Amino acid sequence: MTSFIINDKEISLNLRDGKATLKTIRENLHLQGSKEGCGEGDCGACMVLLGENIGESTLRYKAINSCLLPTGELSGKHVVTIEGLNQKRLSLIQETFATEFAAQCGFCTPGFIIAFTGFLMTTTDLDKEEAIQSVSGNICRCTGYVSIKRALFAILKKLNSSDFKKTKPGSAARVKLLIDENILPSYFKEIHKKIKGMQPAGIPILSSHKIIAGGGTDIAIQKRDILENQDIYFISERKDLREIFLNEGKCYIGGAVTFEELRTSKIMEKIYPQGKNVFQLIASLPIRNRATVAGNIINASPIGDMTVFFLAMDAILSFSDGINKREIPLREFYKGYKTMDKKDNEILEWIIINVPDKNTFLHFEKVSKRKYLDIASVNTGICITVKKHIIEKVGISAGGVGPTPLYLSKTCEYLTGKKIEESIIKDALKIANEEISPISDVRGTEKYKRLLLRNLLLSHFIELSPKTINQNILSL
Ligand SMILES: Cc1cc2nc3c(=O)[nH]c(=O)nc-3n(C[C@H](O)[C@H](O)[C@H](O)COP(=O)(O)OP(=O)(O)OC[C@H]3O[C@@H](n4cnc5c(N)ncnc54)[C@H](O)[C@@H]3O)c2cc1C
Ligand code: FES
Ligand code: FES
Repeated sequence: MTSFIINDKEISLNLRDGKATLKTIRENLHLQGSKEGCGEGDCGACMVLLGENIGESTLRYKAINSCLLPTGELSGKHVVTIEGLNQKRLSLIQETFATEFAAQCGFCTPGFIIAFTGFLMTTTDLDKEEAIQSVSGNICRCTGYVSIKRALFAILKKLNSSDFKKTKPGSAARVKLLIDENILPSYFKEIHKKIKGMQPAGIPILSSHKIIAGGGTDIAIQKRDILENQDIYFISERKDLREIFLNEGKCYIGGAVTFEELRTSKIMEKIYPQGKNVFQLIASLPIRNRATVAGNIINASPIGDMTVFFLAMDAILSFSDGINKREIPLREFYKGYKTMDKKDNEILEWIIINVPDKNTFLHFEKVSKRKYLDIASVNTGICITVKKHIIEKVGISAGGVGPTPLYLSKTCEYLTGKKIEESIIKDALKIANEEISPISDVRGTEKYKRLLLRNLLLSHFIELSPKTINQNILSL
């Protein structure tokens, strides 16, 4: 039995845990404002808000693609569909979309309204770029983007003259302000208390017949039938694994930490300040709200962005099967295409990295067919420690150029102890070219991927040492 709040009503349903929330909403709850477009997390027509209590006073909402969200994840949470935002009159967002001609068809508009409402519930400021990013997972097939942007900016302008910035995201004060500004219906005031009164989901029990689900953003597409028919171990219920913390010079990232939690983490900002912008190139906000770093590693895609980033950092993976624990370096984890050193019942609990010192430089590059919401053709990361112009230590990773994400160990070995200069970098590029084995596919020919990786590796060094490495080296 799954008990949760849908809009203003508390309900309990006896459904399979793996049934997609979109189907539950439309088929069982007869709320048809959320639409099925792609069914694969790409269009945003199915978007809902998922709210949960975090601590004593915070009610945190996230915009989520309900087509990829298993119903079992709703336990003890608040689900908001477009019907749950409707009031007797249009809300401020709905009205502005109408007056700015941003509402065109009924298929995608609900998703945009949901996504932007979620932004106003979670943002600390009213930044225009972040506002655009908040609808990055919503597609408008009639190309109404200019009018949509106009509507978003008009709402930001109106809220800029309110007390918005004085209220904390997830606080009762923020909810009250959004009710007063005619953005949320008044029942939202009661939700925090109502969730408190509900039975929280218990700590899941690991067993060999259960399938492990992180955010479900891969598994709900690749193994939909299995997910619908098997018992599920929800990683999100492991509250102990939702943390990022530092201990003795190392950073621990929990197996339940999402891409967006990593992107916005203060600890990560210190480790990799560019990450806040760079990680926006990964998927869309609603996907990043669910996708976990651990799921990216276990999915074992040769182009997993987080995997490639953490591979360069020479991350250590810490597993547990409930009784035994073990650690293994990420660079030794993959054995072949989608095969890895892992038992079915092992949970990836922690991803552990060394905190870089002041001489260490981190950089990540990704090229995909389109800039946002696309998987990489080729990606690469570097973590390099340079002292007095000499490379003391270096880790370089490459995705999309082999059957697994690759750690370029021969290239790293060659570079260690060398000075950063053009002749050395050129030799390193030759070694890297011998370490990879790309194949021609829809993302590019073998030749193109070799050239792409070469240029991306070069861009690591140009970023690191622009005075030493001349851009012209590209043409050599
Ligand atoms: C629209 C869209 C865009 C995307 N864009 C990108 C992109 O730009 N870059 C990118 O790299 N990926 C992208 N992805 C892929 C996906 O979001 C990532 O691979 C994500 O990290 C998967 O994490 P998850 O938590 O959703 O994994 P899930 O789908 O839950 O699980 C994936 C696999 O990992 C296992 N698993 C999950 N967590 C654990 C754990 N803690 N311990 C043991 N096993 C576990 C599951 O059993 C499953 O086999 C995209 C996906 C979609 C749908
Ligand atoms: S239906 Fe397209 S994202 Fe869910
Ligand atoms: S609003 Fe639906 S296609 Fe543009």
